Amino acid sequence: MYFAAISVVRGFLLLALLLAWIAGNKASALLFSETEAKLNHKARKLITWAVILSISSAGVLAGMIWLMAATELVFWQDRLLIPPLLIIPILMVWMTSYPRLRRIRQATGRKTDSPLDVRLLSRASQPALVAPYQFVALGSLTGMYWTFTTTIPFDVLNETIPLVVLLIACMVLWLSHLNRSSRVSLTGTKPINRPLMRLLRRMAVLLVVLALGSIPFYSGLQASRLPETISMTAGPMDNGTGSQLAHHHHSGAVTASAEPVKEVSVDSLTGPAAGKPDVSYTLTAEKKAVKLASGRVVEAWTYNGQIPGPELRFRQGQLVEVKLINKDITEGVTLHWHGLDVPNAEDGVAGATQNAVMPGETYTYRFIAEQAGSFWYHSHQDSQEAVQKGLFGSLVVEPQEGMPQNMKDITVITHIWEGGGVAIGDQDGIQHMQIAPGTPVRLRLTNTDDWVRQSFKLLGTKFQVAAIDGTELHEPGDLTEVSLDLITGGRYDVTFIMPDSSVTLNVDQGGKLGIVMSPDGQGDLPKQMPNMPVFDPTHYGTPTSTPFDANSHFDREFTMILDNTLGFFNGKLALNYTINGKIFPDTPMFMVREGELVKTTIINRGAVEHPMHLHGHHMLVLSRNGAAVTGSPWWTDTLDTAPGEVYEVAFIADNPGLWMDHCHNLAHAAAGMTMHLMYEGITSPYTAGSATHNHPE
Ligand code: C2O
Ligand code: CU
Repeated sequence: MYFAAISVVRGFLLLALLLAWIAGNKASALLFSETEAKLNHKARKLITWAVILSISSAGVLAGMIWLMAATELVFWQDRLLIPPLLIIPILMVWMTSYPRLRRIRQATGRKTDSPLDVRLLSRASQPALVAPYQFVALGSLTGMYWTFTTTIPFDVLNETIPLVVLLIACMVLWLSHLNRSSRVSLTGTKPINRPLMRLLRRMAVLLVVLALGSIPFYSGLQASRLPETISMTAGPMDNGTGSQLAHHHHSGAVTASAEPVKEVSVDSLTGPAAGKPDVSYTLTAEKKAVKLASGRVVEAWTYNGQIPGPELRFRQGQLVEVKLINKDITEGVTLHWHGLDVPNAEDGVAGATQNAVMPGETYTYRFIAEQAGSFWYHSHQDSQEAVQKGLFGSLVVEPQEGMPQNMKDITVITHIWEGGGVAIGDQDGIQHMQIAPGTPVRLRLTNTDDWVRQSFKLLGTKFQVAAIDGTELHEPGDLTEVSLDLITGGRYDVTFIMPDSSVTLNVDQGGKLGIVMSPDGQGDLPKQMPNMPVFDPTHYGTPTSTPFDANSHFDREFTMILDNTLGFFNGKLALNYTINGKIFPDTPMFMVREGELVKTTIINRGAVEHPMHLHGHHMLVLSRNGAAVTGSPWWTDTLDTAPGEVYEVAFIADNPGLWMDHCHNLAHAAAGMTMHLMYEGITSPYTAGSATHNHPE
């Protein structure tokens, strides 16, 4: 709804701009009419143009009304000035241009072939007749600018500078028409119509405007260049609102509180340093050409020479040790445990919690697996490229007692391989599995792709969504013919009891990729997929108690506004993906203290989806678009937000450190859509930026 409405506004603004541009030129050329008859004709046409402009402006207005009716204040508050920008000039067209056009028409009613006399010349060139048409164009241009630049959170400069420029442009236009009109009345002759001269003059004006504009443009470009070293602990602080702040003050240091907070380096927030690990793995990162099942070859970046990397599987409560060796990934690597809330120093973010592991280097991670569930791991150095090329794998933490003996536990991790297309792991075709009727089956669905919303369709049985993002749901009900859509980073665990007929898991529509599970290991994917609604976690399962809920008293409340904004990024003009109007490293750090209960309202004002991923914590979803979650508690670490959506989520700040919070469309993160959750008093010896090896995104 939101996106449709704002698109209507933008569309009609563009239309109004183009049409008003044409009409403005016609109005301005009125005095060049050769005869009275022609003037009469042109004046009538201009009246028609007034109607056309009114209609397109009404379209803008209708779009705005739709937007305001369908969405909350935060989606249009800053755009309220758009309607007056069109209504005022349109009113001028009707109140000043129109009567003058009518008088011209009356005076030229006999439609003679005689040239215009001085009275007609002066009437046809009056600024009050000509300028309003051009004001419509300027107004829509300003409106367009506003719809592409974020003014939420409110930014005075962004609101007022375009207004001031608009007013000056209108004045200049008016004065130049006035000047021309008085010359005409004085001399009684029209200026010679020299289209070439007019064109040249316009180009000159344009050049001057461009030259003037290039100064702020160029300095903006320069200022947007990323610094050579970025300290992740030095960003702008957002202390949120909420009860904690009543007695907190700005102190300028990394603590926002009056009470002193002990300084703690991320380096000290490790897992158990001593003790023999219960499980240990060695992952060696290397570049390698790897064959998919179909024989297609992928030039991959691998862990242990395979894509995806080996599945890591251990049990809740175990002490895990993973040794990472970088053989030849010149860009560097790390290991991040997506969704597993490990101590901060083990989180694997280059430039924040460690240095990127360069070729020939090793790094050892040690942590106790506190949660059971489905997770995945990936490099968090150059993560967009690293994940794309294969530096990831699935990670399963079984409950202490292990999975049921006879259960069939299947990991389904989808990825689009460069040069190989979409696949489940390295299987880019149809897999067959022989499963005896009555066997409990668990499918662990994970999507790892940037930009892709992967649809998984399970046919042939009723099933349950047992877990989301590694957390079990409470009393999940039976589902059939529901599409399970995952954005990048998210996980659904699906369970069912194997029937005595075949069950298919279908990825994509075409019957080409998926898993056939059947008692005899035979069968095919259906060629045609029924139309299915998309699984909605907000009303699924039944409620059960949670450590807090929507009525709890929150120590901190934050607002996270996602948007697209025309602006600069690292020395280039770009359509940026912004958080609270900013891109990294200017995005805020949400400041918290250990033990606080934190609520965040996530609002997507942009044009595309953003799966927001918070490291080190699981968020309880409280509401979506104002409607409370009524089913099972829904805990998430990667929350997809579509344009126009508003989510309220909350978590307990129980894992001190410096935690990334970013869009898991990693291309967006790499373009600056990243920020972090910051515990007061945390310091980090690591830096990112072009002068370092560390490029977390
Ligand atoms: Cu899966 Cu910060 O990432
Ligand atoms: Cu995004």
